[in-house]
Amino acid sequence: MSLLVLDDVEKRFGGLPAVDRVSFGVDEGEILALVGPNGAGKSTLLKAISGLQPPTAGRITFAGRQLAGLSAHSVRQRGVAMVLQTPRTFDSMTVRDNVVLGAMFGSTTGRIRESEANARAEEALEFIGLADRVDDEVGSLNLHEQRFLELARALAGKPRLVLLDEVMAGLNETELAASIDIVRMARDTLGVTVIWVEHVMTAVMSLAERIVVLDFGQVLADGAPADVMRSPDVVTAYLGDGAIPVE
Ligand SMILES: Nc1ncnc2c1ncn2[C@@H]1O[C@H](COP(=O)(O)OP(=O)(O)OP(=O)(O)O)[C@@H](O)[C@H]1O
Ligand SMILES: [Mg+2]
Repeated sequence: MSLLVLDDVEKRFGGLPAVDRVSFGVDEGEILALVGPNGAGKSTLLKAISGLQPPTAGRITFAGRQLAGLSAHSVRQRGVAMVLQTPRTFDSMTVRDNVVLGAMFGSTTGRIRESEANARAEEALEFIGLADRVDDEVGSLNLHEQRFLELARALAGKPRLVLLDEVMAGLNETELAASIDIVRMARDTLGVTVIWVEHVMTAVMSLAERIVVLDFGQVLADGAPADVMRSPDVVTAYLGDGAIPVE
């Protein structure tokens, strides 16, 4: 059964649709990559699901309940956590405190005590491999570690669905491999479902089980990675953007 169902989801800024009647479902435990040229509406769609920028039309059904119209906070409490393309972290805060905040405000099991939030934060940081950096300031982390911190903060709330926006951009090959492993592990061991926006096509091809391509706010293709990337429509969309997807 689908964990998430998008039905004719639309997001307009002024008159123009950034997301134009998008419909697809995502099964529990799936790792779905959402790709497409710059400006295709990928981030806007994730923000519509997470309640950060509610859709202007359409239905978003998560675990059988409507999300469209709920605040970002309510969506998070129902089990949807988002890692933004441009993270908003407090550089002077410690790694631990940052994730504790994620555990408290992202909790999907109602209000939790500080001791429980601390325990969840430790668990998430252990999982992500940042346990030895808990007392460091966020500002001292490199880009890769900051991305992992964001993921730990999302996971600390114990979400069922995580929305990742370009969390692998700018990483070197070793960091990329580590990121791919951690996302796969989050699904395999924590059971989270993943919708992941990415331009790094080598990562997409090695991790995604399904790809949805957006172009001008609409679904251009949806299916198994190898089939989708061979589709003439997809090749044309990418060539139009000047970027050719890798094999
Ligand atoms: N807050 C906003 N106000 C007005 N227009 C917006 C806003 N946010 C996004 N847009 C427009 O919506 C369209 C889709 O933008 P979006 O950021 O979702 O694209 P994207 O697929 O994430 O692109 P990228 O790969 O470059 O991150 C673009 O035309 C963009 O200019
Ligand atoms: Mg984007």
